[in-house]
Amino acid sequence: MKVFAGIQPSGDLHIGNYFGSIKKMIDRQESDDVYAFLANYHAMTTVTDGQRLSELTMQAATDFLALGINPEKTMFWVQSDVKEVLELYWVLSQLTPMGFLERAHSYKDKVAKGISANHSLFSYPVLMAADILLFDSEVVPVGKDQIQHLEIARDIAVRFNNEYGDIFHLPEYQVDDEVATVPGIDGAKMSKSYGNTINIFGEEKSIQKTIKKIVTDTTALDEPKEYESCNIYALAKLFLDKNGLEAFEERYRTPGEGYGHFKLYLHDVMWEYFRPYREKREYYAAHQDEVRDILKAGALKARAIAQEKMETVRSKTGIAY
Ligand code: ADP
Ligand code: TRP
Repeated sequence: MKVFAGIQPSGDLHIGNYFGSIKKMIDRQESDDVYAFLANYHAMTTVTDGQRLSELTMQAATDFLALGINPEKTMFWVQSDVKEVLELYWVLSQLTPMGFLERAHSYKDKVAKGISANHSLFSYPVLMAADILLFDSEVVPVGKDQIQHLEIARDIAVRFNNEYGDIFHLPEYQVDDEVATVPGIDGAKMSKSYGNTINIFGEEKSIQKTIKKIVTDTTALDEPKEYESCNIYALAKLFLDKNGLEAFEERYRTPGEGYGHFKLYLHDVMWEYFRPYREKREYYAAHQDEVRDILKAGALKARAIAQEKMETVRSKTGIAY
C-alpha cells in the first residue's frame, strides 16, 4: 500500500505528534511503501520568519531521521525540492470551485485565530491536493482536522478525471481512532497552538519544568489517588508496558506518595524511552550535511515520479504544445 504523509515543519515536535503520527509512519515502513515529506510551503502560511522556517525544516528532518525514518525504505523529502507540485497546484486550481475552499473549516479556524486571510491560506487545500495526487497516493493517515482536506482532494481529482480522462488515483484517508488524543500538560489536546506541549527532544531541565506544571487534582499524600482521570497517568501510559502500568496503578492506590513523585517517574520513563533516539539525534545534529544529502536524494526519487505524472497532465490539459 502506498502510504502518504505530509508534516508541516512549523514548530518543535511534541509527544502528541510522535504518538499520533510519526511513530505510526515509522512502524508502517516495514509493511507499506511510505512517502513522507516536510510540507514547508504549507508551513509558510504560519511561519513568516525565513530563517526560522529553514531552521525548522532542518530540525524536523533531523528529528525524523533520529526517530527512525529509514531513507533506504521510505521516500523522504522536502516539499519545495519537488517544484512540480506548484505546477499541479495551478492546474488543479482550474478545477476547484470557490465554494470548496469557502467551506473549509481549517481556513475558517485559522482566520478566527487571527492569522491573516491571505490567498495562500485560502488555497492551502489545493496545494495539499496537488501533494497527494501527484504521487498517486492510496492511503493518507490524518488527524480528524484534515479529513475535509482529503475530501477536497478527492473532489478535485474526480473533476479532473471527468474533464481530462482517468489520470489521478482517488486517495483514501485513514483516521486511527485507537490512538486517543494525547493530552497536554493542562489536559486539553496537546498542541503547539495551545502552549501545552512536552517536546520530544527538549533539554532535560526544560522537560522537567514542563512536567512539573502538569495539572492534577489536590488529593493529599496520605490518600489513595484516582489514576483514570490523572494527566500524569495518561501520559505515562504512552511509555509503559502492561507490567509497568500495573505497578504504576498500584502506586496510585497506595497512600504515601504525591503527584510530585509521579511526575518525577513520568520524566524518568519518558527520558529513558527517547534515550536511543536522542543519541541518534546527536549524530545527525553533528552531521547536517548528511541530513541534507538524504533529503536531496529523496527529492531526486520523488521528482522522477512527479515529472512523469506531470508529463501526462501537461499533455492532457494542453500545456504541452
Ligand atoms: P499541532 O496541533 O501541535 O499544531 P499538527 O497539527 O502539526 O500539531 O499535527 C501534526 C500531526 O500530529 C498530525 O497528524 C496530528 O494528527 C498529530 N497530532 C498532533 N497533536 C496530537 C495529539 N495531541 N494527539 C495525537 N496526535 C496529534
Ligand atoms: N495539512 C497537513 C497538516 O497540517 C500537512 C500536509 C500538507 C499534508 N500536505 C499534505 C498531509 C499531504 C497529508 C498529505 O497536518
